[in-house]
Amino acid sequence: MAYKVLNNIGLIDTSTNALTSLKTGLLVIVVNKDTNKDSAFKDLNKVSKSYISKTIASHLKDSGSSILLPKIDGIEAENIMLVKGLDTSAPMHKWISSYQAIAKKANSINAKDLSIMSGAVSPSGKDELWLIEMIAKTVESNVYIFSETKNKTAKKPSVKKLTIVTTGLKGTDLTKAKAAAKKGYAIGEGVNTAKYLGDLPANHCTPRIIERKVKAMTKDFPKLKVKSFNEKDLEKMGMGSFLSVSRGSAEPARMMVIEYKGGKPSEKPVALVGKGVTFDTGGVSIKPSPAMDEMKWDMCGAATVFGVMSTLARVNANVNVVGVMACAENMCSSTATKPGDVVTSMSGQTIEILNTDAEGRLILADALTYVGKYKPSHVIDMATLTGAVVVALGRHASGVMANDQHLADMIIDAGEESGDRAWQLPLWDEHQSCTKTRYADLANIGGGREAGTIHAAAFLSKFTNDYKWAHIDIAATASHSSPIKAGTGRPVPLLSELLLSKKLK
Ligand code: BES
Ligand code: MN
Ligand code: ZN
Repeated sequence: MAYKVLNNIGLIDTSTNALTSLKTGLLVIVVNKDTNKDSAFKDLNKVSKSYISKTIASHLKDSGSSILLPKIDGIEAENIMLVKGLDTSAPMHKWISSYQAIAKKANSINAKDLSIMSGAVSPSGKDELWLIEMIAKTVESNVYIFSETKNKTAKKPSVKKLTIVTTGLKGTDLTKAKAAAKKGYAIGEGVNTAKYLGDLPANHCTPRIIERKVKAMTKDFPKLKVKSFNEKDLEKMGMGSFLSVSRGSAEPARMMVIEYKGGKPSEKPVALVGKGVTFDTGGVSIKPSPAMDEMKWDMCGAATVFGVMSTLARVNANVNVVGVMACAENMCSSTATKPGDVVTSMSGQTIEILNTDAEGRLILADALTYVGKYKPSHVIDMATLTGAVVVALGRHASGVMANDQHLADMIIDAGEESGDRAWQLPLWDEHQSCTKTRYADLANIGGGREAGTIHAAAFLSKFTNDYKWAHIDIAATASHSSPIKAGTGRPVPLLSELLLSKKLK
């Protein structure tokens, strides 16, 4: 099963295609300082009897502002949108935001396809290839609309095709530009995969349903090898911590391991581990009712793994990566784990579960121990782990904590590059005190109201001594809370950038 929205992303160059005769639902012209000198633009403007240039002069004052024009006689495009381009000094995520708005506009006016003349102006330090990749990624992931569980009122994305209009690109430059568009398209599809799994209601997205979807993906991507573990398998491996979470649910847990080998056989893999709690009631330490529905996005770490692995396969990336999706439903019942219960983790460390709502770390503890067997070069886990990260950082950045500063730096860098930003919190020895208890080697909560995000990471760090590790808390970034209520597909762009740029050494 593929999760792409657009059927096609193409590239045309104005040196061989007259823009006036381009048949398209929406032609977007990003206006910058060079637009006036562009001969394709001059042709359009002439046919419009300078209506376009006059509108730009009178209506497009601020960067990012836009105006939609009605059909103009002599120009085939059904609609034209003029967008004032950003300064080259504007940060990457602002550029991305302006293209998000373009994609959404195209759907809202029911355009069947979208053509974008971006002008060859890119943010400083970036070239036109970056721009093309970004446009493909951003448009693909923002024409997405979730409608699977609507019947009578479904609204499907109208936009089915993107054409990127370039100026003066030929030969190898054109070939490279096409490859950049393809890469962006593949990342956008990965983002949509993660959005889709997140947006599915929890009764349509149980651990077993996710398992089915992951297995189905190998039909599209034979290079992905999937192993799936059921509760018996997890028990055999000694994953008492993981299993304590699914005990209260009629839905059994599953752990999927996806292997992708695109690099040299001798190269150690990067391991990605995702929290996949398909619904988090809190368990016996039950959550309050308001907004509890948002706990269907508690599997977005696992969804990220799914999205990234499919992107790697789609672009034939020359890296070795193993992705683990640790999936369970956290319910409250007579079989559920009770506060004070002690379980034994795969690592041998016993854990007193003082709060059954701190379940993500219990699942990750065993999944992180498991990936050690791959002797990974780096391990990165993604998890909607703490409400505290929303308080600490707000909704724009994911929280990063690591036992290796270079890895943390690379993650933050990849976040800037991809506009999918992350920010580091400390993880010091002093934060470890929280895990002390009289009844087990560790307690699953500690620290009281202080630094909840860091204390969760401190717990995880007890299971990651054997390798370079970073933890990304995505509780604030993986989905938009009420009133928007939608998955974002984050941090698929960050991780795709990190792995595909091959800077992780
Ligand atoms: N899934 C939640 C964290 C969360 C909160 C994600 C809000 C998205 C939005 C996690 O399992 C949880 O419940 N964490 C507790 C930890 C606490 C009991 C130490 C929390 O943050 O309150
Ligand atoms: Mn919880
Ligand atoms: Zn949770």
